[in-house]
Amino acid sequence: MNKFIFSDKKYDVLIFILGIIISIMSGLIALLIPLQIRQFIDIPNDGLFNRTTFFIAGLFIIQAMLSGIATYLLIKYGENQVKAYRTFIFRSIINSKVNYYDDKKSGELASRIVNDTSIIRNFITNSLVDFTSGLVIIVGAVIMLFLLDWRLSLVMFLLLPLMILIISPLSNFSGKYGKKVQDYLSELTGFITESIQQIRLIKTSTAEKDRLTNAEKLFKDVYVVSIKSGLIDSIAKPLVFLTLFSIVTIIFGYGGQRVTTGTLTVGTLVTFLVYLFQLLTPLSQLGQFFTQLSKVKGATMELNALAELEPEKKDGKITDISNKSLSIKNVSFSYGDKKVLKEVSIDIPANHKIAIVGPSGSGKTTIVNLLERLYEVSEGKISIEQDNINDIALNNWRQQTALVSQDISLLSGTIYDNLIFGLHSIPSENDIDNALIAASLKEEIDNFESGLQTVVGERGMRLSGGQRQRLQIARAFLRNPKLLILDEATSNLDSNSEESIITALRNITKNKTTIAIAHRLSTIIDADKIYFLEKGVITGEGTHKELLIKHSVYASYVEEQML
Ligand SMILES: Nc1ncnc2c1ncn2[C@@H]1O[C@H](COP(=O)(O)OP(=O)(O)OP(=O)(O)O)[C@@H](O)[C@H]1O
Ligand SMILES: [Mg+2]
Repeated sequence: MNKFIFSDKKYDVLIFILGIIISIMSGLIALLIPLQIRQFIDIPNDGLFNRTTFFIAGLFIIQAMLSGIATYLLIKYGENQVKAYRTFIFRSIINSKVNYYDDKKSGELASRIVNDTSIIRNFITNSLVDFTSGLVIIVGAVIMLFLLDWRLSLVMFLLLPLMILIISPLSNFSGKYGKKVQDYLSELTGFITESIQQIRLIKTSTAEKDRLTNAEKLFKDVYVVSIKSGLIDSIAKPLVFLTLFSIVTIIFGYGGQRVTTGTLTVGTLVTFLVYLFQLLTPLSQLGQFFTQLSKVKGATMELNALAELEPEKKDGKITDISNKSLSIKNVSFSYGDKKVLKEVSIDIPANHKIAIVGPSGSGKTTIVNLLERLYEVSEGKISIEQDNINDIALNNWRQQTALVSQDISLLSGTIYDNLIFGLHSIPSENDIDNALIAASLKEEIDNFESGLQTVVGERGMRLSGGQRQRLQIARAFLRNPKLLILDEATSNLDSNSEESIITALRNITKNKTTIAIAHRLSTIIDADKIYFLEKGVITGEGTHKELLIKHSVYASYVEEQML
């Protein structure tokens, strides 16, 4: 069974039970109304304003009120469930290992969380209310009908199975297509999100037309399944009503004849018909309920998979890593079955600076990923003095490191928001100034009209490439890390800012263990040791001078940059 109830707080359960009870009560009162109508017709009365009419009016009002209250309570319950469900899934997503996202589209996932949970809410707030009060009315009305006149009822109920026979296969189909529509919609959302994110790429590659063609294909897919699902609904609805109205016609004919022969009062016939009309809506909704139920099953299956992603291992010992040496020992790593690192060993004495150089794709960022524990080392180990880094509490470890990553790690919001992102205490104005000065960003930001409150746009789109990188460097400064990891941190800087960044890096890396990855040799020339990585293997290590002499590939690297 698919579980989809996540909030089982007593208060919520109470609201739910109360909602259901009131909705049942509203159904029961609805059943009383036709009986009063019979009295009204069959027993002589003195005009419109008598006890029976007031009683009937009163019943109508109470029934309407109860139905309103029940609807509200169940909406409240449904919204509470969706809130709890969304929180649960988002928590799972944010805590899961990153490798899950290697082959996922963000827009598609977002659509799942937002839309699929809405299906569940609609089910609780609409279908469930209709179903419970409907069920009461169906059971109650059927009993009443048999009590009123069993022969008339028998005629009717011989015809009813016919209707169920028609509806149930149709509702199965409808559920299947409903799920397909949902799948295609998620895919579409993913596609549109990506198109907006990559709008610059699309334009500069003149790929608008191709993109549009692809979009049209997706629109068509959604269209086709929606139409099919719509077709089934359009067949089912009139069929249901056709069957019901045939039944009504037969009742009219047979009942009318019984009234003529005096074996049935007019009041009973009218009451009979009122009950029948009360039955119409719940009976036709019964099919919809099961369609919705199968949709909910489909949606919860997808959502539960998201709710149960494997989380990162967070627990471990708390330890201060300052003034401790770091050692990467015989580390091998594969993404899936693609081996990327082979027996890599790097030793970094406390507060030293080492650099990793090597061709693109050689595995440099992968080493960073392992150090930040975004992926787990599969062979060998990384340790801080005697502690394997895997034994240190994850947050404790990451709080003591700062990463300036190769890709844009900025969020929409202001420059200030980005600077303090993830910090546990708000830095002083002075600290912020120092960080900005160190990253040679101070002057530029002061010249922005809104200064620190300048909005950077999605992924920092409204900043220049160099500004984005320097903002990330300033953020790393503010974290005041014990272990600093710089991945390609200077690739976007002009030689002026590069100069100041080198000075800045010298300041910040003082008394800090630093691992720097750069294609530009100017930033790493003063590293205590340089490692040369080729195809996942360390092929040389030493100071700049040593490598120049003994490593021919490194020497030619340096030569290229001197030109
Ligand atoms: N998430 C991933 N899933 C599968 N393969 C990956 C993943 N990330 C990287 N790779 C592969 O691992 C290899 C090493 O990638 P890595 O990013 O470590 O290279 P790099 O040395 O940082 O290159 P560059 O200098 O271009 O940044 C590459 O062949 C890349 O295709
Ligand atoms: Mg890289």
